[in-house]
Amino acid sequence: MKQNIGYQFHTETKYLREPYSAGAFERLRNQETIKRRPLDRTVALPPPDRKNGFPLYAVLNARRSVREFEDRPVSLEALSQILWAAYGVSFRAGDFLFRTAPSAGALYPVEVYVAARSVEKLNPGLYHFAPASHSLRQRYEGDLSPLLAEAALDQDFLAEASFNLILTAVFERTTWKYGARCFRYIYLDAGHIVQNAALAAVSLGLGSCPVAAFFDDEVNALVGVNPARESAIYLLAVGWPRND
Ligand SMILES: Cc1cc2nc3c(=O)[nH]c(=O)nc-3n(C[C@H](O)[C@H](O)[C@H](O)COP(=O)(O)O)c2cc1C
Repeated sequence: MKQNIGYQFHTETKYLREPYSAGAFERLRNQETIKRRPLDRTVALPPPDRKNGFPLYAVLNARRSVREFEDRPVSLEALSQILWAAYGVSFRAGDFLFRTAPSAGALYPVEVYVAARSVEKLNPGLYHFAPASHSLRQRYEGDLSPLLAEAALDQDFLAEASFNLILTAVFERTTWKYGARCFRYIYLDAGHIVQNAALAAVSLGLGSCPVAAFFDDEVNALVGVNPARESAIYLLAVGWPRND
């Protein structure tokens, strides 16, 4: 990735564990709970509903950040619906696949991953969302959520959520056009996506909480991306709200 002030800003505003050490990566890699063997298994997602759901204003009124979740699985249909609402394809024009969320220059630098813990018909693991085919590609097996919670400054609710979305950005998809300014656009794109997902969750009776406080390179290590090219920017914990 070519150095520019945007990339420098992104890098210099990362949260680092003090004292920072590459040992953190090793610790994550050595976790026995996770088979870090990269997989490339495809999981078809049920077709999303594109027409119904709760009325928009009622959903906007009901959305709150939820940090207490029931230990109860979410259906694969609900995950599918949330992914489509977040960043799914809503319009095709030739080779262009427009999404539910706007994106500067329609360059879609953001990628969405799912760290699934408790989703029906889906093994715990890390999955990459493929919007064009509305499917998931499994990257890793195992429940990443305790490690994700640890990487997110020990925010334990991530380990209680049924699944967490992990948003990353592939910088070069947008730097070629917007240079350093693209970093503004990347963060704005991510905000649209997370809000779409949060509203879809409400529409399904689920709750969510956005999370931007995390040790960036620990999340990058969990997802298995090279931070010089692709880096985590935002998380969303999703599950059944606990009302006690
Ligand atoms: C960019 C961003 C980052 C956030 N990061 C966190 C976080 O790391 N942990 C957390 O518990 N909440 C986080 N939140 C949620 C906010 O605390 C929450 O949106 C705010 O308190 C307003 O409450 P509401 O979402 O219920 O309207 C974040 C929200 C945004 C927009």
